[in-house]
Amino acid sequence: MSKVIVSPSILSADFANLERDIKKVETAGADWLHIDVMDGHFVPNITIGVPVVKSIKQIASNPLDVHLMIENPEKYIKPFAEAGADIITFHYEAAKDKVSEIIKLIKSYKVKAGLSIKPKTSPDEILDYLHELDMVLIMTVEPGFGGQKFMPDCAQKIPVIKKHAPENLIIQVDGGINSETAKVCTQYGANSLVAGNYIYKSEDIEKAILSLH
Ligand code: DX5
Ligand code: ZN
Repeated sequence: MSKVIVSPSILSADFANLERDIKKVETAGADWLHIDVMDGHFVPNITIGVPVVKSIKQIASNPLDVHLMIENPEKYIKPFAEAGADIITFHYEAAKDKVSEIIKLIKSYKVKAGLSIKPKTSPDEILDYLHELDMVLIMTVEPGFGGQKFMPDCAQKIPVIKKHAPENLIIQVDGGINSETAKVCTQYGANSLVAGNYIYKSEDIEKAILSLH
C-alpha cells in the first residue's frame, strides 16, 4: 500500500456518465473520491449538492472526500454526513469564528474533519486547530474551477503545517496536480493528492494514478 492517498476529483468526470467514470478511477487504483461542492457564493461556480452525493454513495466503493466550497458550512454538515460523506472539508475563510464548533459537529457524525485554506490565506492562521483535525487541505489554485495552473508558492505552506501537525494529520493538496507538481508536494510532506484533469483527461487513467502514488 502506498502512503499517498490519491483522490480523483469527479468535477472533471463526464456527469452524464458519472457511475462509469467513478468505476473507472476506482478500478484504476484510486483511494478516495473527491467531490467538489460549490455554492456560487463562496466561489463563483455551482456544482454538486446533497442528492448527488447520496446517489454516488449507492454506487461508489471508495470513501467520499467531500470538499465544501460554500458559505455557512455548518448548515450543511448534517445533510452531507447523512448522504454518506466519509470526510468533510470546509473552508477556514468561510468559518473563521466557528472553526472548532464545525469540527466538533462533523466528528459528531463519525465523519473525518478537514479544514482548507485558499492561496492567499497564511498557514499560521490555522495552526491552533491542527490537533482537532483529521486533514488539512492546502489549495494550490484559487478554488472554483478544475483545470487551472498549479501555484508553486502555495506548496510552501506544506512544511509549515507539517512542522506543527500531529503525526497522523493528513495533508492534502488540490489544484493543478500532475505527476510533476505532485512530486513537489509530496517532497514537502503532502500525503493526499487531489487531481481532476490530470486523471480524467489522461489516455491511461491507471498510469496517471500510479504516477501519483
Ligand atoms: C477546484 C477544486 C478541485 C478541482 C481540481 O476548486 O477544488 O478539486 O476539481 O481540478 P484539477 O486537478 O483539474 O486542477
Ligand atoms: Zn476540491
